[in-house]
Amino acid sequence: MLSVWLCAAALWACGEDGQQNTNTTPPTDTSSDTSTDGESPSVPFTFPIIQGWPTLEDLNPDPNIVEVNLTAQFSDITLSPDLTLRMMTYNGVTPGPLLQVAVGDRVIVHFKNELDEPTTVHWHGLRISAEMDGNPRIQNPVEPGTTFTYDFVVPDAGTFWYHPHIRANEQVEQGLYGPLIVHDPADPVVDQERIIILDDVLLSGDGFAPFMGTMPEMMRGRLGNTLLINGHIATPIITPTTKQVERWRLINSSNARTFSLSFPRGTLHKVISTDGGVFEESYKAQRLQIAVGQRYDLEITHVPGYDMELTAHILTLDAQDNVIESPFPLYRVEADTLDPSLSTGLSWSGPPVSMPTADREVEFVLDVTQDSLGNVVWTINGESHHHHGPLFTFNEGDIVDITIVNMVGPEHPFHLHGQFFTILDNGEGASEPGLHDTVLVPGLGTVKIRALMSNPGRWMAHCHILEHSELGMMSEIEVTPKP
Ligand code: C2O
Ligand code: CU
Repeated sequence: MLSVWLCAAALWACGEDGQQNTNTTPPTDTSSDTSTDGESPSVPFTFPIIQGWPTLEDLNPDPNIVEVNLTAQFSDITLSPDLTLRMMTYNGVTPGPLLQVAVGDRVIVHFKNELDEPTTVHWHGLRISAEMDGNPRIQNPVEPGTTFTYDFVVPDAGTFWYHPHIRANEQVEQGLYGPLIVHDPADPVVDQERIIILDDVLLSGDGFAPFMGTMPEMMRGRLGNTLLINGHIATPIITPTTKQVERWRLINSSNARTFSLSFPRGTLHKVISTDGGVFEESYKAQRLQIAVGQRYDLEITHVPGYDMELTAHILTLDAQDNVIESPFPLYRVEADTLDPSLSTGLSWSGPPVSMPTADREVEFVLDVTQDSLGNVVWTINGESHHHHGPLFTFNEGDIVDITIVNMVGPEHPFHLHGQFFTILDNGEGASEPGLHDTVLVPGLGTVKIRALMSNPGRWMAHCHILEHSELGMMSEIEVTPKP
């Protein structure tokens, strides 16, 4: 394992521009015209420039509808000059192309499955209707050679992502994930935005290591031996810029790895947005922990004279087999060309989150057991996903305090579909700002969240370590609509 990390580190040292996609389609302005129909016509605004991503082409002339084609397929992907892998892709690229919309837009996705196994597309974090959520218990899985049309209205602005919800541990690992950005006219104006998707893959020989091949993979989740940034073996991305204030949207799409990030060179940065969008009090963090499935957006102010390096701190083994934390530079911007006369920061605030009291309290207990054959089975409240039907039924509008108790050593990023929550206690006695759809429950820890059950339907509630959810740590809640 160590040797692969070292080899990856060596590649980082010698690469040039690691930007994955040279095909930079200008962002589509879907709202250049004010619509007259509908209750809330969108305000005209131009999407910010997001560097280096192919964007799904909007085929619909209606400014309030984004209509795109998305195909899951096999493609040969060059991860580094000496490594080409047969991967699963959306439209031939991994990460998948950027789906970029405005809040309130209707989105129509003509999805086609050209893989040799069933799949679905889940729009992680969007509070859309349950029928469009990619839940294979609600929609029929999209069989090979067939199509499905996703059609929904996007209610919230923020940083989201899309990925399959069948055999996700294999499909996401092999490349099926992409960014989904929902813009808002009220978003702060920045000079430039970037998307940074953090991933790791477990390779052996010239392909992916076997899935669920080892007890550690079943217990801790599949921890990769090769880091990917925006789908590339993490060569530093060197982008000289004259821009001053940027919004960096971070997404953790890995199967199991929590990333711990820092800015070692004195960069000014603030956390301004979480899973559920911008929040009122931006804050500084010297270390930012981002669990699987989570998003954090940073406001970055380039300081003239300082290059900046976003750095991941990864646990590896030293020569004596001791676990040590090693820094891996992920993303780098040269500041030499900065114009110091540009502004040095934004002041802005998102909507306050107000859920003063709860109507109800429930508990999710995360544990592990074995089936009669001795296989690992992960459970929620003693049940694995073989148990169909909701663990809890709530009423639309309920505010629910959920205590999540982790009975075991491995951590669990717990994800609730279709709703947002605040984090009252992150397991260390502290609350966290912003709205979330995924919370990290530390090993043997207890986390408390307060969820607003705003979105009726049947919703998955599961661990986002994809091995854990595949091995049973998957439940369902139901929110019944207001009469
Ligand atoms: Cu990102 Cu149920 O998933
Ligand atoms: Cu888990």
